[in-house]
Amino acid sequence: MVVTRVFNVSPTSPELEPIQAAADVLRAGGLVAFPTETVYGLGANALDSEAVGRIFTAKGRPASDPIILHLYQMAQLELVAQDIPDFAYELAGQFWPGPLTLILSRHPNVPANVSAGMPTVAVRMPSHPVAVALLKATNLPVAAPSANRFARPSATSADHVRQDLDGRIDIILDGGAAVIGVESTILDLTKEQAVVLRPGGVPLEALQDLIPNLQVVSKLLREDEQGIEAPGMLYRHYSPRAELRLFDGENAVLIPAMREDAIKQAGLGKKVGMLLPHDESHLVDGLDINVVDLGTTEAEISHRLFDAMRQLDGAGVDVILVHGFSRTGLGLALWDRLLRAAEGRVISV
Ligand code: TXA
Ligand code: MG
Repeated sequence: MVVTRVFNVSPTSPELEPIQAAADVLRAGGLVAFPTETVYGLGANALDSEAVGRIFTAKGRPASDPIILHLYQMAQLELVAQDIPDFAYELAGQFWPGPLTLILSRHPNVPANVSAGMPTVAVRMPSHPVAVALLKATNLPVAAPSANRFARPSATSADHVRQDLDGRIDIILDGGAAVIGVESTILDLTKEQAVVLRPGGVPLEALQDLIPNLQVVSKLLREDEQGIEAPGMLYRHYSPRAELRLFDGENAVLIPAMREDAIKQAGLGKKVGMLLPHDESHLVDGLDINVVDLGTTEAEISHRLFDAMRQLDGAGVDVILVHGFSRTGLGLALWDRLLRAAEGRVISV
């Protein structure tokens, strides 16, 4: 156990002192959780394999699950990747800083454990001022997965990080809630054709403007099936402790089916929670259910989703009922996260 220090830091103009303290810890091989525009990251010096190893230990993350590197300026890209295609620069020019991760060929500078031994490396340039300030202060590429215990919902606030990692990491920079709330979009540029390995903060439609015929690979495969395109992307990820029951179907039948299931689950003696968009939250009035209002727009829903899962876990529910949203824009990222949290099971109505 270590003593985890928490420093408040302004999300818009981060103070020098906490940033310096965090940069010192990173340089010394320690672990720092920090806000990004997507979710909180758990950072270590990406060029120090021992420091990177500590990330796996702190999170309880399997060594087969590779980690994304974070940069603050383009000049760092050639230090961590090689044979970089021109197209990567074009994409970076358009989407960095921001929630797009590119898979490139790994430079020998980068220790193998960052990428679970693969010859590739995942890289992104975050836009959150606290992340940028920290990356500048260290002047190092920083390896950072989401700052949650393995398979748990990603941390979107310093409180979530504390819940999962207190006593296991050195510093938490508390810069308020992460903005987008779901992780970056991951685009693999090492194959013949660019493929999206994880839908996320950059909508597919924005990438399709540049990459016609863009493929999204199904990462919802079990290890014994067709093999996993993005290692670490297994079933049961982003999961609350409670069983997540994911409904899908036409709006008119969705809520009645969820109501019915809620009653059935309660009848089985289970404590029931529900995640619903604002406009639908009154539709289950009168039932003994813990309802969390996800807000109205898909941007709001993304922002709140992981926090809402954690709230219901905190309330001690046994099951969480939720339905999918659109499959466009952020809706696709939401669907992906819900599907994984539900271990791939969909209740079609
Ligand atoms: O928004 C985000 O991407 C956040 C913030 C902190 O930047 N990070 C994040 O990291 O979501 P993490 O570790 O929770 O998810 C990283 C995923 C891995 O599970 C893996 O599937 C994929 O990125 N990945 C990383 N390196 C890869 C590689 N070399 N090849 C293929 N997939 C890779
Ligand atoms: Mg993660």
